[in-house]
Amino acid sequence: MIDNESNGVVSRPILIFPGGMPRSLEYLKKCLRDGQSVIGASSLEYDVSRDKYPEWLYLPYITHSDFDKALKLAIIGFNIAGVYSPNIVVWNYLDRVLKEIAPSIALVNTSPVNAELAGYRTAQSHAHALIKNPLPLSVKEIAKPSISEIELSALFRHADLIPGMCDHEKLCVLCEIARYSPCGDVVEIGSWWGKSAFILARLAHCYNIGNLLCVDPWSNEHLVQNDEKGLVDSGSAQVDAEEALMVFEMNILPYDFNHINYLRMPSVEGAKHYGKHKNATTASFGSTNYSGHIAILHIDGNHSYAAAKADIVSWGHFVVKGGWIIFDDYIWPYGDGPQRVGDEFLADNHANIDVAFVMGSALFVQIAS
Ligand SMILES: C[S@@+](CC[C@H](N)C(=O)[O-])C[C@H]1O[C@@H](n2cnc3c(N)ncnc32)[C@H](O)[C@@H]1O
Repeated sequence: MIDNESNGVVSRPILIFPGGMPRSLEYLKKCLRDGQSVIGASSLEYDVSRDKYPEWLYLPYITHSDFDKALKLAIIGFNIAGVYSPNIVVWNYLDRVLKEIAPSIALVNTSPVNAELAGYRTAQSHAHALIKNPLPLSVKEIAKPSISEIELSALFRHADLIPGMCDHEKLCVLCEIARYSPCGDVVEIGSWWGKSAFILARLAHCYNIGNLLCVDPWSNEHLVQNDEKGLVDSGSAQVDAEEALMVFEMNILPYDFNHINYLRMPSVEGAKHYGKHKNATTASFGSTNYSGHIAILHIDGNHSYAAAKADIVSWGHFVVKGGWIIFDDYIWPYGDGPQRVGDEFLADNHANIDVAFVMGSALFVQIAS
């Protein structure tokens, strides 16, 4: 028996079977982190994953007549508390057979079918809800017809797979304003791992808006925001901007229809480059031309007042009539930079603004058409 003591509680082991599947290895890591004892098992004579486990045993294939007996012996011999299986066929078999051979032992995970499909089902229900109840924007223009429910579901699902800072409310508004967007470039200041960039790239493509330009220095130096309590800055100090660019490229490249590129530079420098060259060229995305007129400007760079102000001053004048500006983190618990800049923009330009509203934590502004 391989019981271990943690916080005075004796933990009986969980059997992970088959132990070599990617989900099994993820679960193994979680158990080891939590101090939960585990035993891996496989029906292969030699399984390359066995060395990753603190304990290991061989079990026959579930189709073999000896399987039930071998499993029962293992449960008794190792005092097993539960079984984890990400394999759909094995899970179904164990769900039935455990009730007969070891009624006090249960599977610790829900059906792998439900687990794998949960994210798709959620995406589909979000898409369904948005199509049934589009956000009531008081915009003068007539909206383009929405992309289909399956396209919207795909957008929600894939956005969910990219880590980052774009909440559900903001995602829904982006989907809606894209329907009211004129043609032109879509520019994002601050892309990090590419979550909102993916959403903008997809919408720009689906609604024929234009090409996407991401402007971000991806440098640790530019992550410093001087936030009020230093909480953001101490978190940023633990991330690697070089790696973030690699992650951005891994996330965005599969969605590129020759309509996405980036400038690896701070936004003020990026605006000068954009105005002069109307082009971005990178090894991974090739060469992309831009119109020099912006349909959607997403400001999500450094949130200090000075940086956010410089973003809108450098880029705002490129936005066309009827175009949109999004001030991200207008509501931000760590400082008021984006809010002060957004409010000043509204005060200075009220005669030239058709629509302005806050949704989620972002301020959305439509320039008068
Ligand atoms: C909050 S993250 C962006 C999150 C991203 N939009 C998302 O949806 O996940 C802020 C980004 O702004 C970038 N940044 C910082 N200073 C900048 C500047 N002066 N110009 C452009 N980007 C900047 C940082 O490198 C970082 O990637």
